[in-house]
This record gives sequence, structure tokens and C-alpha cells, in this order.
Amino acid sequence: MEQHKVDAVLANLVSIETGLVQIYQYLANREHFSRPVRMFWNNMQKEEQKHAQLIQELRNLQHSRPDAVEVTGIDRESVQAFIDKIKTVLIEVKKPGLSESAAYSIGAVIEAELDEGAFIDKIKVADEQYKAIIRSVANDCKKHSAMLAAYAHGAR
Ligand SMILES: [Fe+2]
Ligand SMILES: [Fe+2]
Repeated sequence: MEQHKVDAVLANLVSIETGLVQIYQYLANREHFSRPVRMFWNNMQKEEQKHAQLIQELRNLQHSRPDAVEVTGIDRESVQAFIDKIKTVLIEVKKPGLSESAAYSIGAVIEAELDEGAFIDKIKVADEQYKAIIRSVANDCKKHSAMLAAYAHGAR
């Protein structure tokens, strides 16, 4: 993939993470949710913030060493579709009277779709330190997806 396209994909992945930050931040501030539930969403929000920063680091790496980052098999349209989806979800989470379980279901769907997209796994770097960054974001993504699926089914 050409360098400017790699940068565009990475910029979109940062947008996805910051979109998730906005969604989870909003849920963390819903006053009718219980304190533990709001704390749960606040932690989620912090983790997504961390992902945004880590992906931004990959972007910075590519700016300083253009051949250090390769992206293969990410279809830019599916990334864009996911960004559009986040905008829709941001409206959904603002619905008055949204229940805690409906919020878990919304989170479960979005994390499952992101996990299926596996965008992060398609970024390739040679450097071990940056490989570790990619692994940690991918692991969190899988963790979020599994955890929210369980909560959406009433495991909490
Ligand atoms: Fe994330
Ligand atoms: Fe996540």
C-alpha cells in the first residue's frame, strides 16, 4: 500500500478509537446508571483512549520511517463504514432512558464488529516494540468483545 494510503488508514483507525472513547464516555456519564456500571464504561473509555494513542504512535513511526509500517488487506471502505457506524451508535447511546443492558448490547455489537474487522492485525511492523503495541491493542479488542458479549447476555 502506498505511504499516503497507509497514513490515511492509520488516521481512520485513530478516529475509530476516539469514536469509541466518545461513546463510552457518554455511557460513563449517564446519570441513571449505577455507579459500578458508570465506572465500567469509564474504564472502557480509558482503554480506548490508550488505543488511540498507541495507533497514533504507529502513525508517527510511519512519518519518521515511511517503510517501517505496512498495511495489507485493509479495505478502506470497510474502515469508513465502521466510522459511519460509530456515528450512528453515538446517536443511539444518547436515547433517553437507555437501559444498562441495552448499553451493554450496543457495546457488544460494536466491539464484535471491530473484532471481526481485525483491522489492527493487518498492520505489519518489523520493530519488536511496535509489534507489542499492535498485540496489546488486538488483545484488548478481543477482551472487550468477549466481556461485553457476556454482559449483554446478563452475566453481570
Ligand atoms: Fe480499542
Ligand atoms: Fe474496544
